[in-house]
Amino acid sequence: MEWKDSYDIGVEKIDCQHRQLLVKLNEFFDACTNQKGKEKIEETLKFLKDYTLEHFGNEEQLMSEIDFPELAEHQKTHAEFVKTVLELEESIKTKGVSVLSTIKLNRTLTDWLINHIHKCDRLIGDCIAAKGNKAV
Ligand SMILES: [Fe+2]
Repeated sequence: MEWKDSYDIGVEKIDCQHRQLLVKLNEFFDACTNQKGKEKIEETLKFLKDYTLEHFGNEEQLMSEIDFPELAEHQKTHAEFVKTVLELEESIKTKGVSVLSTIKLNRTLTDWLINHIHKCDRLIGDCIAAKGNKAV
């Protein structure tokens, strides 16, 4: 998947982190295409645990700084993503890596880019723009 300009929210730090996620996502997709998904999944999940901690923290802080109206809702979506990552990790620990777990992560990440970053995170950029960029 390629980065589209429309994914940018206009806040450099956040956009950089989103691009970083896309790099990891593509690495994982490539591994899946080359039948190496099972080997890559643990590494990807480990990355996601650290990444989400920092990135969601930054995004939520930004949202509170600009009095983003849907902060609570947005936070909930972040928490659900973290939960999915932790559940996948737990299932791998107890049952081992399965094709199903790689498909699940594949779908989760694609959905996150298309629906969360492209739609929900964009609203943060829109909110900043509406306030005349005064908040950042
Ligand atoms: Fe977000």
